[in-house]
Amino acid sequence: MVAPASRVQGRVRPPGDKSISHRYAMLAAIADGSSVLRGYSTGADCASTLRCLRGLGVEIHEIGRDPARGLDLRVAGRGVRGLSVPAATLDAGNSGSTIRMLSGILAAHPFQTTLTGDDSLRRRPMRRIIEPLERMGARFTSADGRPPLTIEGTARPSSIAFAPEIPSAQVKSAVILAGLHAEGTTSVREPLPTRDHTERALQAFGVTVGSAGNLVTIEGGQRLSGRELTVPGDISSAAFWMVAAAALPGSEIVIEEVGLNPSRTSILDVLRRFGARVDAGASTEGDLGEPMGTIVVRYEVLRDITIAPDEVPGVIDELPVLAALATHGGGLTVTGAQELRVKESDRISALADGLRRMGADIEEQADGFRVRATRRLHGGDVEAHEDHRLAMAFAIAALGASGPTTIHGAAAAAVSYPEFFSVLESLRV
Ligand code: S3P
Repeated sequence: MVAPASRVQGRVRPPGDKSISHRYAMLAAIADGSSVLRGYSTGADCASTLRCLRGLGVEIHEIGRDPARGLDLRVAGRGVRGLSVPAATLDAGNSGSTIRMLSGILAAHPFQTTLTGDDSLRRRPMRRIIEPLERMGARFTSADGRPPLTIEGTARPSSIAFAPEIPSAQVKSAVILAGLHAEGTTSVREPLPTRDHTERALQAFGVTVGSAGNLVTIEGGQRLSGRELTVPGDISSAAFWMVAAAALPGSEIVIEEVGLNPSRTSILDVLRRFGARVDAGASTEGDLGEPMGTIVVRYEVLRDITIAPDEVPGVIDELPVLAALATHGGGLTVTGAQELRVKESDRISALADGLRRMGADIEEQADGFRVRATRRLHGGDVEAHEDHRLAMAFAIAALGASGPTTIHGAAAAAVSYPEFFSVLESLRV
């Protein structure tokens, strides 16, 4: 149950970035020598990646735990193509990043692996990775393009030039990771740029990756060296507090040690367009290529804004909480966001349903939505639909309502941010 708040105030160090945590763990697993990863995400999705890697013979030890930052891990790398045949089906839980990126690595291991996940993951589309990875020589069986996936990898994948129709960092990464094991040069040309954590992480582990505009290239046959790396705070988790500060008059939130990778910071521009005062401190280059720094967000009167299709990949994970922001004032129109329908839930219909139950004026479209801030929310009973970002977005909308909101399935927040509700209590005034 989330009660309204008059404002939010305080400092937060968000949990280790989910996208970067997955990549560091997977690359550490196929590196030569051991790696130490600090500030690894405490979320269930990143635990799913560790579980799958352990199932593939990778030794991973927790060597520390910082309540504000996350886990410190030691990963014993097995070298390129060094993963071993799993004894059982691997469970990726709720994590699309785990199943899609790991499929790219397993496409280059000459044995059979079955990967599955929870009800939500088993509804998600996988043809987007099956098609290019089969072109590279792997064989897949699936439940009509959905998990469980059985992958028969090949020791010698062929390199390809791949031009996906949808911009997706997970798809790009799957192909690049298979390309790391292929003969020759593999390239991915995306319709719009997506987050570049895989490219940066590969470079951090000593691999040369070409990147120019929307084109990424990798030469097969390179090896990775174990590293000591720190994961910056997750800007997509921080977005909930940034939005809370932008929404409630008199608020100010300081976010520390947060990732400021330019492929993830579009949320800052969108918040400024909404009217919020946003300062992003000079970014110190974090460990080997992921910049991080401090963000301060202060309330100002909200405006009505539009997010255009070419901006969508840059804020794909923040759209639910941006819709929540628009219920506090201003307004928001989003188009070209049909990908939201195949996330952890159908995020267009589930978001519209939940916000409407709280009293919002929201119109659902095939590829987006429109929120008009015509009235104050009254609060109500909403369903998170097994979707962490919806559970948290509803909580941020609830702060501005006149009455309390009950979020059913709110425990889903633990997929990316187990500490979310306790942090919310510490920031509310
Ligand atoms: C992610 C990419 C995005 C994003 C997801 C994490 C990643 O998914 O929504 O939360 O870590 O590469 P798509 O690649 O499906 O767009």
